Amino acid sequence: MSLQFKNSNFYRSRIHQLIPGGAHTYTKGDDQFPDLAPAAIDHGKGAYVWDIDDNKFLDCSMGLTSVSLGHAYEPVLERVREELDKGVNFQRPSYIEMEMAEKFLSLVPCHQMIKFSKNGSTVTTAAVKLARAFTGRKLVAFPSDHPFYSYDDWFIGKSACDFGVPGEMSALSVSYASDNLESLTALFDKYPGQIACVISEPEKNFGIPENYLKDAIALAHKNGALYIVDEMITGFKTDFPGSIKKYGIEPDMATWGKGIANGFSFCALTGKKEIMEIGGIKQKGEKKLFLISTTHGGETHAIAAGLATIKEFQEKDVIGHNHRLGDYLIRQIKSVIAEYNLGEYIQIADCNWMPVFIFRNSTGQPCLGMRSLFLQEMIARGVLFQGIFVPCFSHTIEDVDYFVASFRDAVKIYTEALTAGYERFLTGSPVAPVFRKYI
Ligand SMILES: Cc1ncc(COP(=O)(O)O)c(C=O)c1O
Repeated sequence: MSLQFKNSNFYRSRIHQLIPGGAHTYTKGDDQFPDLAPAAIDHGKGAYVWDIDDNKFLDCSMGLTSVSLGHAYEPVLERVREELDKGVNFQRPSYIEMEMAEKFLSLVPCHQMIKFSKNGSTVTTAAVKLARAFTGRKLVAFPSDHPFYSYDDWFIGKSACDFGVPGEMSALSVSYASDNLESLTALFDKYPGQIACVISEPEKNFGIPENYLKDAIALAHKNGALYIVDEMITGFKTDFPGSIKKYGIEPDMATWGKGIANGFSFCALTGKKEIMEIGGIKQKGEKKLFLISTTHGGETHAIAAGLATIKEFQEKDVIGHNHRLGDYLIRQIKSVIAEYNLGEYIQIADCNWMPVFIFRNSTGQPCLGMRSLFLQEMIARGVLFQGIFVPCFSHTIEDVDYFVASFRDAVKIYTEALTAGYERFLTGSPVAPVFRKYI
Protein backbone atom coordinates (compact mmCIF):
# COMPACT_ATOMS: atom_id res chain seq x y z
CA MET A 1 0.00 0.00 0.00
CA SER A 2 1.48 3.31 -1.05
CA LEU A 3 -0.20 6.42 0.31
CA GLN A 4 0.24 9.96 -0.94
CA PHE A 5 -0.45 13.04 1.19
CA LYS A 6 -0.55 15.85 -1.40
CA ASN A 7 -3.70 17.54 -0.08
CA SER A 8 -2.62 16.86 3.49
CA ASN A 9 0.68 18.61 2.89
CA PHE A 10 -1.15 21.67 1.56
CA TYR A 11 -3.56 21.60 4.52
CA ARG A 12 -0.66 21.42 6.96
CA SER A 13 1.06 24.36 5.27
CA ARG A 14 -2.08 26.54 5.45
CA ILE A 15 -4.02 25.64 8.58
CA HIS A 16 -1.62 27.05 11.17
CA GLN A 17 -2.02 30.50 9.63
CA LEU A 18 -5.75 30.28 10.28
CA ILE A 19 -6.25 28.26 13.46
CA PRO A 20 -3.82 28.42 16.42
CA GLY A 21 -2.68 24.84 16.98
CA GLY A 22 -4.21 23.85 13.65
CA ALA A 23 -7.00 21.94 15.41
CA HIS A 24 -9.62 22.30 18.14
CA THR A 25 -7.97 19.96 20.56
CA TYR A 26 -4.19 19.75 20.88
CA THR A 27 -4.46 15.95 20.77
CA LYS A 28 -5.42 16.16 17.09
CA GLY A 29 -2.50 18.48 16.27
CA ASP A 30 0.30 17.94 13.76
CA ASP A 31 2.84 17.49 16.56
CA GLN A 32 0.92 14.41 17.71
CA PHE A 33 1.45 12.53 14.44
CA PRO A 34 4.44 11.62 12.29
CA ASP A 35 4.97 13.60 9.07
CA LEU A 36 3.69 10.72 6.95
CA ALA A 37 0.14 10.94 8.25
CA PRO A 38 -3.13 12.43 7.10
CA ALA A 39 -3.48 16.08 8.13
CA ALA A 40 -7.27 16.13 7.93
CA ILE A 41 -10.16 13.72 7.50
CA ASP A 42 -12.80 14.04 4.82
CA HIS A 43 -15.35 11.55 6.12
CA GLY A 44 -15.91 8.37 8.08
CA LYS A 45 -18.21 5.35 7.97
CA GLY A 46 -18.36 2.61 10.59
CA ALA A 47 -14.81 1.86 11.76
CA TYR A 48 -13.13 3.57 8.78
CA VAL A 49 -12.14 7.11 7.83
CA TRP A 50 -11.04 8.64 4.52
CA ASP A 51 -8.56 11.50 4.51
CA ILE A 52 -8.53 14.48 2.14
CA ASP A 53 -6.31 12.53 -0.30
CA ASP A 54 -8.90 9.73 -0.32
CA ASN A 55 -6.64 7.35 1.60
CA LYS A 56 -8.74 4.86 3.61
CA PHE A 57 -7.79 4.02 7.22
CA LEU A 58 -9.00 1.64 9.89
CA ASP A 59 -9.77 4.02 12.76
CA CYS A 60 -8.36 3.12 16.19
CA SER A 61 -9.04 6.22 18.31
CA MET A 62 -12.61 6.81 17.11
CA GLY A 63 -12.81 10.59 17.50
CA LEU A 64 -10.70 10.70 20.68
CA THR A 65 -12.83 7.81 22.05
CA SER A 66 -16.11 9.65 21.45
CA VAL A 67 -17.49 7.54 18.62
CA SER A 68 -18.68 4.51 20.56
CA LEU A 69 -20.93 2.95 17.91
CA GLY A 70 -19.22 3.91 14.65
CA HIS A 71 -18.91 6.86 12.28
CA ALA A 72 -22.15 8.01 10.60
CA TYR A 73 -23.97 5.24 12.49
CA GLU A 74 -27.38 5.01 10.86
CA PRO A 75 -29.73 4.53 13.89
CA VAL A 76 -28.19 7.63 15.51
CA LEU A 77 -28.32 9.64 12.28
CA GLU A 78 -31.97 8.72 11.79
CA ARG A 79 -32.91 10.10 15.21
CA VAL A 80 -30.76 13.21 14.64
CA ARG A 81 -32.41 13.89 11.27
CA GLU A 82 -35.87 13.75 12.88
CA GLU A 83 -34.79 16.35 15.38
CA LEU A 84 -33.07 18.58 12.81
CA ASP A 85 -36.34 18.88 10.93
CA LYS A 86 -37.98 20.31 14.05
CA GLY A 87 -35.38 23.05 14.66
CA VAL A 88 -32.52 22.82 17.13
CA ASN A 89 -32.58 25.80 19.52
CA PHE A 90 -35.48 27.77 21.00
CA GLN A 91 -36.28 30.60 23.40
CA ARG A 92 -37.38 28.09 26.07
CA PRO A 93 -36.09 24.59 26.85
CA SER A 94 -37.05 21.74 24.53
CA TYR A 95 -39.13 18.79 25.65
CA ILE A 96 -36.26 16.48 24.74
CA GLU A 97 -34.25 17.92 27.66
CA MET A 98 -36.66 16.35 30.14
CA GLU A 99 -36.69 13.11 28.17
CA MET A 100 -32.90 12.93 28.32
CA ALA A 101 -32.71 13.97 31.99
CA GLU A 102 -35.06 11.14 32.97
CA LYS A 103 -33.33 8.60 30.73
CA PHE A 104 -29.77 9.44 31.80
CA LEU A 105 -30.61 9.58 35.50
CA SER A 106 -32.28 6.17 35.22
CA LEU A 107 -28.80 4.87 34.29
CA VAL A 108 -27.17 6.49 37.34
CA PRO A 109 -29.49 5.66 40.27
CA CYS A 110 -27.18 7.23 42.88
CA HIS A 111 -27.78 10.66 41.30
CA GLN A 112 -31.01 12.64 41.16
CA MET A 113 -30.13 15.67 39.06
CA ILE A 114 -28.29 16.34 35.81
CA LYS A 115 -26.99 19.34 33.87
CA PHE A 116 -26.03 19.21 30.18
CA SER A 117 -23.21 20.85 28.31
CA LYS A 118 -21.39 20.69 24.99
CA ASN A 119 -17.89 19.93 26.34
CA GLY A 120 -16.31 17.76 28.98
CA SER A 121 -14.22 20.60 30.37
CA THR A 122 -17.39 22.55 31.11
CA VAL A 123 -18.88 19.79 33.24
CA THR A 124 -15.73 19.00 35.22
CA THR A 125 -15.31 22.72 35.97
CA ALA A 126 -18.97 22.94 37.00
CA ALA A 127 -18.51 20.00 39.37
CA VAL A 128 -15.52 21.72 40.99
CA LYS A 129 -17.47 24.95 41.39
CA LEU A 130 -20.40 23.15 43.03
CA ALA A 131 -18.03 21.33 45.40
CA ARG A 132 -16.44 24.63 46.45
CA ALA A 133 -19.87 26.18 47.05
CA PHE A 134 -21.18 23.12 48.93
CA THR A 135 -18.19 22.77 51.25
CA GLY A 136 -17.16 26.43 51.51
CA ARG A 137 -13.57 25.29 50.82
CA LYS A 138 -11.13 26.41 48.14
CA LEU A 139 -8.79 23.56 47.21
CA VAL A 140 -9.40 20.95 44.53
CA ALA A 141 -7.43 17.69 44.47
CA PHE A 142 -6.71 15.46 41.49
CA PRO A 143 -4.15 12.81 40.58
CA SER A 144 -0.84 14.19 39.36
CA ASP A 145 -0.38 11.40 36.83
CA HIS A 146 -3.66 11.52 34.91
CA PRO A 147 -3.40 13.46 31.66
CA PHE A 148 -6.44 15.71 31.54
CA TYR A 149 -9.61 16.94 33.21
CA SER A 150 -10.29 20.38 31.75
CA TYR A 151 -8.67 23.19 29.79
CA ASP A 152 -9.87 25.56 32.51
CA ASP A 153 -7.44 27.26 34.88
CA TRP A 154 -7.98 24.96 37.90
CA PHE A 155 -6.54 22.04 35.93
CA ILE A 156 -4.32 23.42 33.18
CA GLY A 157 -2.66 25.87 35.60
CA LYS A 158 -1.24 22.85 37.41
CA SER A 159 0.17 21.25 34.24
CA ALA A 160 3.33 22.08 32.29
CA CYS A 161 1.14 24.42 30.18
CA ASP A 162 0.48 26.93 32.97
CA PHE A 163 1.29 29.93 30.76
CA GLY A 164 -1.55 32.47 31.05
CA VAL A 165 -2.80 31.17 34.39
CA PRO A 166 -1.99 33.33 37.46
CA GLY A 167 -0.02 31.39 40.08
CA GLU A 168 -2.64 32.33 42.70
CA MET A 169 -5.14 30.17 40.81
CA SER A 170 -2.81 27.20 40.35
CA ALA A 171 -2.10 27.31 44.08
CA LEU A 172 -5.73 26.31 44.69
CA SER A 173 -5.15 22.95 43.00
CA VAL A 174 -3.28 20.16 44.78
CA SER A 175 -2.39 16.69 43.60
CA TYR A 176 -1.61 13.18 44.77
CA ALA A 177 -0.44 9.93 43.19
CA SER A 178 -3.38 8.22 41.46
CA ASP A 179 -4.94 5.12 42.98
CA ASN A 180 -2.78 5.56 46.06
CA LEU A 181 -4.67 5.84 49.33
CA GLU A 182 -1.55 6.75 51.34
CA SER A 183 -0.82 9.63 49.00
CA LEU A 184 -4.42 10.90 49.21
CA THR A 185 -4.38 10.53 53.01
CA ALA A 186 -1.15 12.55 53.18
CA LEU A 187 -2.76 15.27 51.07
CA PHE A 188 -5.75 15.56 53.41
CA ASP A 189 -3.34 15.65 56.38
CA LYS A 190 -1.35 18.43 54.72
CA TYR A 191 -4.42 20.60 54.05
CA PRO A 192 -6.84 19.87 56.90
CA GLY A 193 -10.34 21.31 56.34
CA GLN A 194 -9.28 22.95 53.06
CA ILE A 195 -9.97 20.45 50.27
CA ALA A 196 -13.40 20.91 48.66
CA CYS A 197 -13.26 17.86 46.42
CA VAL A 198 -11.28 15.08 44.87
CA ILE A 199 -11.86 14.69 41.13
CA SER A 200 -10.47 11.62 39.43
CA GLU A 201 -11.08 9.23 36.59
CA PRO A 202 -12.35 6.02 38.20
CA GLU A 203 -9.72 3.90 36.48
CA LYS A 204 -7.01 4.05 33.87
CA ASN A 205 -5.90 1.30 31.56
CA PHE A 206 -3.59 -0.48 33.97
CA GLY A 207 -6.28 -1.28 36.58
CA ILE A 208 -6.85 -0.20 40.20
CA PRO A 209 -6.23 -1.85 43.58
CA GLU A 210 -9.22 -3.77 44.95
CA ASN A 211 -11.73 -1.59 46.82
CA TYR A 212 -9.68 1.52 46.01
CA LEU A 213 -12.61 3.62 44.79
CA LYS A 214 -14.86 2.83 47.76
CA ASP A 215 -12.00 3.55 50.17
CA ALA A 216 -11.04 6.80 48.43
CA ILE A 217 -14.63 8.06 48.49
CA ALA A 218 -14.92 7.16 52.20
CA LEU A 219 -11.62 8.94 52.90
CA ALA A 220 -12.81 12.11 51.13
CA HIS A 221 -16.07 12.05 53.08
CA LYS A 222 -14.26 11.46 56.37
CA ASN A 223 -12.32 14.64 55.62
CA GLY A 224 -15.42 16.65 54.69
CA ALA A 225 -14.67 16.70 50.94
CA LEU A 226 -16.80 15.61 47.99
CA TYR A 227 -15.72 12.93 45.51
CA ILE A 228 -16.25 13.48 41.78
CA VAL A 229 -15.76 10.63 39.35
CA ASP A 230 -14.83 11.75 35.84
CA GLU A 231 -16.33 9.14 33.50
CA MET A 232 -15.46 11.09 30.34
CA ILE A 233 -13.38 8.20 28.98
CA THR A 234 -14.65 5.26 31.06
CA GLY A 235 -18.33 6.10 30.47
CA PHE A 236 -20.05 3.69 28.06
CA LYS A 237 -16.73 1.79 27.86
CA THR A 238 -15.81 -0.02 31.08
CA ASP A 239 -19.48 -0.86 31.62
CA PHE A 240 -22.87 0.69 30.95
CA PRO A 241 -23.11 3.45 31.94
CA GLY A 242 -19.57 3.20 33.33
CA SER A 243 -17.25 2.43 36.22
CA ILE A 244 -19.85 3.67 38.73
CA LYS A 245 -21.79 0.51 37.95
CA LYS A 246 -18.75 -1.73 37.47
CA TYR A 247 -17.49 -1.00 40.99
CA GLY A 248 -20.84 -0.27 42.67
CA ILE A 249 -19.70 3.16 43.86
CA GLU A 250 -21.74 6.23 44.77
CA PRO A 251 -19.65 9.35 44.18
CA ASP A 252 -21.19 12.76 44.96
CA MET A 253 -21.03 13.81 41.33
CA ALA A 254 -19.99 12.29 38.02
CA THR A 255 -19.01 13.86 34.72
CA TRP A 256 -19.83 12.32 31.34
CA GLY A 257 -19.00 13.05 27.71
CA LYS A 258 -17.19 11.61 24.72
CA GLY A 259 -18.88 8.28 23.84
CA ILE A 260 -22.31 9.06 25.32
CA ALA A 261 -23.67 10.59 22.08
CA ASN A 262 -21.56 8.75 19.48
CA GLY A 263 -19.36 11.76 18.76
CA PHE A 264 -22.07 14.44 18.93
CA SER A 265 -21.45 17.29 21.34
CA PHE A 266 -23.42 16.22 24.39
CA CYS A 267 -21.88 16.01 27.87
CA ALA A 268 -23.41 15.85 31.32
CA LEU A 269 -22.83 16.42 35.02
CA THR A 270 -24.86 14.17 37.32
CA GLY A 271 -24.99 14.47 41.08
CA LYS A 272 -26.77 14.16 44.37
CA LYS A 273 -29.79 16.44 44.73
CA GLU A 274 -28.55 18.40 47.74
CA ILE A 275 -25.42 19.41 45.82
CA MET A 276 -26.85 19.94 42.35
CA GLU A 277 -29.79 22.04 43.49
CA ILE A 278 -27.38 24.74 44.64
CA GLY A 279 -27.31 25.58 40.91
CA GLY A 280 -31.11 25.84 40.82
CA ILE A 281 -33.56 28.72 41.22
CA LYS A 282 -36.10 27.17 43.57
CA GLN A 283 -34.31 27.61 46.89
CA LYS A 284 -35.83 30.95 47.84
CA GLY A 285 -33.49 33.15 49.85
CA GLU A 286 -30.38 31.02 49.14
CA LYS A 287 -27.35 32.41 47.28
CA LYS A 288 -27.58 31.92 43.53
CA LEU A 289 -24.76 29.89 42.01
CA PHE A 290 -24.23 30.39 38.28
CA LEU A 291 -23.83 26.81 37.17
CA ILE A 292 -23.49 25.88 33.47
CA SER A 293 -25.41 28.47 31.45
CA THR A 294 -24.78 28.31 27.71
CA THR A 295 -26.76 29.13 24.59
CA HIS A 296 -26.04 25.77 22.98
CA GLY A 297 -26.31 23.53 26.03
CA GLY A 298 -29.79 22.30 25.10
CA GLU A 299 -29.17 21.88 21.36
CA THR A 300 -31.75 19.28 20.46
CA HIS A 301 -30.10 17.14 17.81
CA ALA A 302 -27.06 16.40 20.00
CA ILE A 303 -29.40 15.33 22.81
CA ALA A 304 -31.28 13.19 20.29
CA ALA A 305 -27.96 11.59 19.32
CA GLY A 306 -27.43 10.82 23.00
CA LEU A 307 -30.86 9.22 23.32
CA ALA A 308 -30.31 7.09 20.23
CA THR A 309 -26.87 6.05 21.50
CA ILE A 310 -28.30 5.01 24.88
CA LYS A 311 -31.00 3.02 23.08
CA GLU A 312 -28.38 1.09 21.10
CA PHE A 313 -26.39 0.34 24.25
CA GLN A 314 -29.56 -0.84 26.00
CA GLU A 315 -30.92 -2.97 23.18
CA LYS A 316 -27.68 -4.45 21.86
CA ASP A 317 -24.74 -5.97 23.66
CA VAL A 318 -22.39 -3.10 22.75
CA ILE A 319 -20.24 -3.39 25.87
CA GLY A 320 -19.90 -7.19 25.44
CA HIS A 321 -18.99 -6.80 21.75
CA ASN A 322 -16.37 -4.15 22.50
CA HIS A 323 -14.82 -6.08 25.40
CA ARG A 324 -14.66 -9.31 23.38
CA LEU A 325 -12.84 -7.48 20.57
CA GLY A 326 -10.51 -5.88 23.12
CA ASP A 327 -9.70 -9.27 24.66
CA TYR A 328 -9.11 -10.79 21.23
CA LEU A 329 -6.82 -7.94 20.18
CA ILE A 330 -4.79 -8.16 23.40
CA ARG A 331 -4.31 -11.94 22.96
CA GLN A 332 -3.21 -11.59 19.33
CA ILE A 333 -0.88 -8.67 19.99
CA LYS A 334 0.72 -10.39 22.97
CA SER A 335 1.47 -13.40 20.85
CA VAL A 336 3.14 -11.23 18.16
CA ILE A 337 5.18 -9.45 20.86
CA ALA A 338 6.25 -12.84 22.27
CA GLU A 339 7.05 -14.25 18.83
CA TYR A 340 9.43 -11.34 18.12
CA ASN A 341 10.79 -11.31 21.67
CA LEU A 342 9.82 -7.68 22.15
CA GLY A 343 8.34 -7.94 25.67
CA GLU A 344 10.83 -5.40 27.02
CA TYR A 345 10.14 -2.90 24.25
CA ILE A 346 6.43 -2.95 23.45
CA GLN A 347 3.84 -3.20 26.18
CA ILE A 348 0.07 -3.52 25.83
CA ALA A 349 -2.25 -2.89 28.78
CA ASP A 350 -4.55 -5.76 29.78
CA CYS A 351 -7.53 -3.51 29.36
CA ASN A 352 -10.25 -4.82 27.08
CA TRP A 353 -12.23 -1.55 27.05
CA MET A 354 -9.27 0.40 25.66
CA PRO A 355 -5.93 -1.34 25.15
CA VAL A 356 -3.06 1.16 25.21
CA PHE A 357 0.49 0.60 24.00
CA ILE A 358 3.83 1.77 25.39
CA PHE A 359 6.83 1.92 23.06
CA ARG A 360 10.34 1.72 24.50
CA ASN A 361 13.85 2.11 23.11
CA SER A 362 16.75 -0.32 23.32
CA THR A 363 17.42 0.68 26.95
CA GLY A 364 13.79 -0.01 27.89
CA GLN A 365 12.82 3.68 28.31
CA PRO A 366 9.50 4.98 26.89
CA CYS A 367 10.57 6.70 23.67
CA LEU A 368 8.65 9.21 21.54
CA GLY A 369 10.91 8.51 18.55
CA MET A 370 10.16 4.77 18.63
CA ARG A 371 6.48 5.51 19.20
CA SER A 372 6.42 7.88 16.21
CA LEU A 373 8.07 5.25 14.04
CA PHE A 374 5.43 2.71 15.01
CA LEU A 375 2.62 5.16 14.25
CA GLN A 376 4.22 5.93 10.89
CA GLU A 377 4.45 2.25 9.97
CA MET A 378 0.83 1.52 11.01
CA ILE A 379 -0.43 4.54 9.07
CA ALA A 380 1.55 3.41 6.01
CA ARG A 381 -0.46 0.17 6.21
CA GLY A 382 -3.82 1.92 6.40
CA VAL A 383 -4.28 1.95 10.19
CA LEU A 384 -4.79 5.37 11.78
CA PHE A 385 -3.08 4.52 15.04
CA GLN A 386 -2.11 6.85 17.89
CA GLY A 387 -1.06 4.31 20.53
CA ILE A 388 -4.54 3.15 21.62
CA PHE A 389 -7.24 0.91 20.21
CA VAL A 390 -10.75 1.97 21.20
CA PRO A 391 -13.09 -0.89 20.31
CA CYS A 392 -16.43 0.36 18.98
CA PHE A 393 -19.60 -1.43 17.89
CA SER A 394 -18.67 -1.14 14.20
CA HIS A 395 -15.27 -2.84 14.59
CA THR A 396 -15.25 -6.50 13.56
CA ILE A 397 -12.96 -9.46 14.19
CA GLU A 398 -11.68 -8.96 10.62
CA ASP A 399 -10.75 -5.37 11.49
CA VAL A 400 -8.80 -6.58 14.50
CA ASP A 401 -7.10 -9.23 12.32
CA TYR A 402 -6.12 -6.46 9.91
CA PHE A 403 -4.78 -4.38 12.82
CA VAL A 404 -2.75 -7.36 14.05
CA ALA A 405 -1.34 -8.13 10.56
CA SER A 406 -0.25 -4.48 10.23
CA PHE A 407 1.19 -4.60 13.73
CA ARG A 408 3.21 -7.67 12.78
CA ASP A 409 4.68 -5.87 9.73
CA ALA A 410 5.44 -2.73 11.74
CA VAL A 411 7.16 -4.83 14.41
CA LYS A 412 9.74 -6.02 11.87
CA ILE A 413 10.86 -2.43 11.20
CA TYR A 414 10.68 -1.63 14.92
CA THR A 415 13.05 -4.51 15.63
CA GLU A 416 15.57 -3.13 13.15
CA ALA A 417 15.19 0.37 14.62
CA LEU A 418 15.98 -0.95 18.10
CA THR A 419 19.55 -1.54 16.94
CA ALA A 420 19.92 1.00 14.11
CA GLY A 421 17.99 3.85 15.78
CA TYR A 422 14.54 5.18 14.85
CA GLU A 423 16.14 8.14 13.00
CA ARG A 424 17.06 5.83 10.13
CA PHE A 425 13.42 4.95 9.46
CA LEU A 426 11.34 7.90 10.69
CA THR A 427 10.47 10.69 8.24
CA GLY A 428 10.44 14.03 10.08
CA SER A 429 10.52 14.69 13.82
CA PRO A 430 9.14 12.51 16.61
CA VAL A 431 5.77 13.43 18.09
CA ALA A 432 5.90 15.74 21.14
CA PRO A 433 4.08 15.59 24.50
CA VAL A 434 0.79 17.54 24.46
CA PHE A 435 1.57 19.02 27.88
CA ARG A 436 4.92 20.75 27.53
CA LYS A 437 6.29 24.09 28.70
CA TYR A 438 7.76 25.22 25.39
CA ILE A 439 6.72 24.74 21.76
C1 LIG B 1 -10.82 12.38 31.58
C2 LIG B 1 -11.22 13.60 30.80
N1 LIG B 1 -11.95 14.55 31.39
C3 LIG B 1 -12.33 15.66 30.73
C4 LIG B 1 -11.97 15.86 29.42
C5 LIG B 1 -12.41 17.11 28.71
O1 LIG B 1 -13.37 16.81 27.74
P1 LIG B 1 -13.60 17.76 26.46
O2 LIG B 1 -12.46 17.55 25.54
O3 LIG B 1 -14.92 17.31 25.90
O4 LIG B 1 -13.67 19.17 26.99
C6 LIG B 1 -11.20 14.90 28.76
C7 LIG B 1 -10.79 15.09 27.35
O5 LIG B 1 -9.93 14.46 26.81
C8 LIG B 1 -10.81 13.74 29.47
O6 LIG B 1 -10.06 12.78 28.89
